Amino acid sequence: MKIFLDTAEIEEIRTVARWGVLDGVTTNPSLFAKVGGSYDDVLKQICEITRGPVSAEVVAEDVEGMLREGRQFARLASNIVVKVPMSEQGLEAIARFAQEGIKTNCTLIFSSNQGLLAARAGASLLSPFVGRLDDISEDGMNVVRELVAMIETHDLKSEVLAASIRHPRHVTQAALAGAHIATVPLKILRQMIHHPLTDKGIVQFRKDWEAVEKQPS
Ligand code: E4P
Repeated sequence: MKIFLDTAEIEEIRTVARWGVLDGVTTNPSLFAKVGGSYDDVLKQICEITRGPVSAEVVAEDVEGMLREGRQFARLASNIVVKVPMSEQGLEAIARFAQEGIKTNCTLIFSSNQGLLAARAGASLLSPFVGRLDDISEDGMNVVRELVAMIETHDLKSEVLAASIRHPRHVTQAALAGAHIATVPLKILRQMIHHPLTDKGIVQFRKDWEAVEKQPS
């Protein structure tokens, strides 16, 4: 399973790229709002850090507006993927982008049927929102499982991108469910790295090493 970073913060993206685990980036209007400035400039900077897919989300709700915004994003860099919300207009825009050879990520997917339709319309990535479903007492990961099964059974070309990840266990569950990608906030990636026994072990190894070093030879 590939790991994308769910952020628009340039320094966060640089950090994870240095760790060697950055396969791509997802942004959305809320993540961009935390950063500010020009969305185009932020996207260009992200695309210079990673060659992996970088999702840029449209805010228009009509087909022509989505196409206009998405084409503009696609001109910024060759690894831009246009993020389009699930809706009747979104499906039409996804189909039109596919005809133009522009890759799309269908976002705000909360059921496997929505994902199936997005895949049929030609979306490269399908983003089921696991955490937001869990928040309303549904089993968000079940949508990931069902979508992965649909794609394998019917040999569809889209990849399942587990989104709205709330804790490290979601990442494990997404990988075991066969998700092709999980997009993860930096805080959760850090939680995945650290374990109290690892951190304690590092300190103990250093202390033991220093005690031997101090002994006269
Ligand atoms: C990513 O593509 C999604 O926009 C993001 O994971 C949503 O996460 P949230 O539910 O924490 O806002």
